[in-house]
Amino acid sequence: MKAVAVTPGTPNSVHLQDIPKPQLDDIGGGMGVLVRVLKVGVDATDREINDALYGNAPPGDDYLVLGHESFGIVEAVGPNVTRVKPGDYVTATVRRPGGSIYDLIGTNDMTSEETYYERGINLLHGYLTEYFVEEEEYIVRVPQGLKHLHVLMEPMSCAAKAVHQAFEAQRRMRVWRPRLAYVLGSGQIGLLTTLILRLCGMQVYTIARGVPPHLKADIVEGFEAHYVSTQKLPLPALVAETGRPDLIVDATGNSQLAFEAMQYLGHNGVVVWTSITGGSRQIEIPSDRVNIEWVLGNKLLLGSVNANREHFELGIRDLALGEMMFPGVCEKILTNPVDGLGNYQEMMRLLVEDDSALKVFVNVAE
Ligand code: BGC
Ligand code: ZN
Repeated sequence: MKAVAVTPGTPNSVHLQDIPKPQLDDIGGGMGVLVRVLKVGVDATDREINDALYGNAPPGDDYLVLGHESFGIVEAVGPNVTRVKPGDYVTATVRRPGGSIYDLIGTNDMTSEETYYERGINLLHGYLTEYFVEEEEYIVRVPQGLKHLHVLMEPMSCAAKAVHQAFEAQRRMRVWRPRLAYVLGSGQIGLLTTLILRLCGMQVYTIARGVPPHLKADIVEGFEAHYVSTQKLPLPALVAETGRPDLIVDATGNSQLAFEAMQYLGHNGVVVWTSITGGSRQIEIPSDRVNIEWVLGNKLLLGSVNANREHFELGIRDLALGEMMFPGVCEKILTNPVDGLGNYQEMMRLLVEDDSALKVFVNVAE
């Protein structure tokens, strides 16, 4: 069967690869789920893997099948599978366990080992192909009523984890009632985080460069949040208007902005960083001022990567609630379909060149 793959270490090596079709029995214990792939989303991670900034092939292979944002339909299940059945829509988690205690308790996203195993990213093949087989444990059911949001499940899981982690960490406060949040960046993670925070009842400012009118601002406003263009209102001026936020989530992909944001957080607040910044940028920051303010304000900086099954389930609930509260807004994120695995060049071109392509995804099958 066909798959879209790269040769790790070789820039711009994206190509079509012929790979064997997986079998249900590839997974032991009767716990396998065979999924026919319908759609796969791609993001900056796929672009950076194709740029050879990171990403490794599974041992013994010289290629890595791309794709970590999966959506498909169950075709067959092993005799001991109970959570899903043929005909169900599903997605799959990305990270697989290593050997740390966190992996052993099912929180692979919190592994304490340097090496991590991620389908489509590191050491494991991804989903940008016709079929995949997975253990039931890593398969998450997508409600029929959310199938139009297909490839958003995985990015949503990462946003859900980031927010959940902030609340978990803020238990240190005994009482934490965040009212004001800034979301930096209006890509898929910024927009989905905006939705989650709005569903928590926060006042949300989603901050990016582009001057409206444009789709991203429309989506933010569709979630009844405020879109702010830094070209119209720089951050210090916004802070003067709103006061300092209780929570800042950075999803800009720009480490300079991630550090700059630290200057604006309110007392007892938390900044969450979610971007994977593959570059080697260096910046100057007012370090004494940030340092003293962070100490005097008991502030917290939190990194958040990936998501486990619990976050997929949280994210799916929030997408369902989001559809009730703000009908039809989420699907506006799904801007750029590409038809068929054979169109992988167009897929990569959109990722690399088209700034207006908010979400690129491949229609693999009907
Ligand atoms: C993926 C995450 C993954 C991270 C680091 C992101 O693009 O969505 O699942 O953990 O990259 O590889
Ligand atoms: Zn991703």
